[in-house]
Amino acid sequence: MKDALSQEEAAMLEETARLAELGLLTASLLHELRQPLFAVKALAQLLDRDGQDPRTAMMLEHLSHIEDLVSQYGGFGRPVAEACFDLNAPVGEAATMMLHRAELMGAELKSDLFDGELRVNGRSSAALQVAVNLIQNALDAVEEGDAGRIVRVRTSVLGQSAVVEVSDSGPGLAVEVRQRLGQPFVTTKPPGRGTGLGLYIAQKLVREHGGELTFPTPLDGGTLVRVCLPLALAS
Ligand SMILES: Nc1ncnc2c1ncn2[C@@H]1O[C@H](COP(=O)(O)OP(=O)(O)OP(=O)(O)O)[C@@H](O)[C@H]1O
Ligand SMILES: [Mg+2]
Repeated sequence: MKDALSQEEAAMLEETARLAELGLLTASLLHELRQPLFAVKALAQLLDRDGQDPRTAMMLEHLSHIEDLVSQYGGFGRPVAEACFDLNAPVGEAATMMLHRAELMGAELKSDLFDGELRVNGRSSAALQVAVNLIQNALDAVEEGDAGRIVRVRTSVLGQSAVVEVSDSGPGLAVEVRQRLGQPFVTTKPPGRGTGLGLYIAQKLVREHGGELTFPTPLDGGTLVRVCLPLALAS
């Protein structure tokens, strides 16, 4: 019994040390990423000094998204402020950011945004992150399957909630993933294609905003992900 306990303790210590090492490695990586990131940003600005080329504008948008992520996860700079924002903006931005990838793989990425403001409280950059992760997963899913490659992004209002839905015509969620929803490092993708962190991060961010991320059963196959966030009260 004593031996079994000490084995358990040793395993826990090993796990804790491994996690601490991983944390340090991640922080170092985020720190080192800042220099090349700033260099690429400066070069992009130099290439288009008068800001006329929409492709440079798009590149700068992607770069500032990376910059936000590096600052936020690396703990550099000031924390991103909470504010009231229109959820359509980051969701629309995420869909635009992913259009290029969709085009390259011959997938259709359709957006149907609520015709009106969807005011929610929180960090718009977090909403962008969630939407990007969900669209990315949907595109990965349709890339795998043989069915038509269609991804739909929709925003709407349901009661007191603002809703974002991402649906796809892919093979649907694997049973082993459904059973372990909410856990980190759950992936069915080959090494180098997925880390199993996207949904974990998305779920965490949605919860931090008082919302919920669910996988309702879609009527016509594929996968449907629904994010509900509390609508901000009118001031
Ligand atoms: N739209 C979807 N259709 C089918 N399976 C999905 C879908 N979204 C997520 N999954 C399943 O959930 C798993 C976990 O997703 P998650 O986004 O957390 O990690 P990942 O996509 O594998 O890697 P990454 O960390 O790069 O996002 C995926 O590997 C996949 O099996
Ligand atoms: Mg993912």
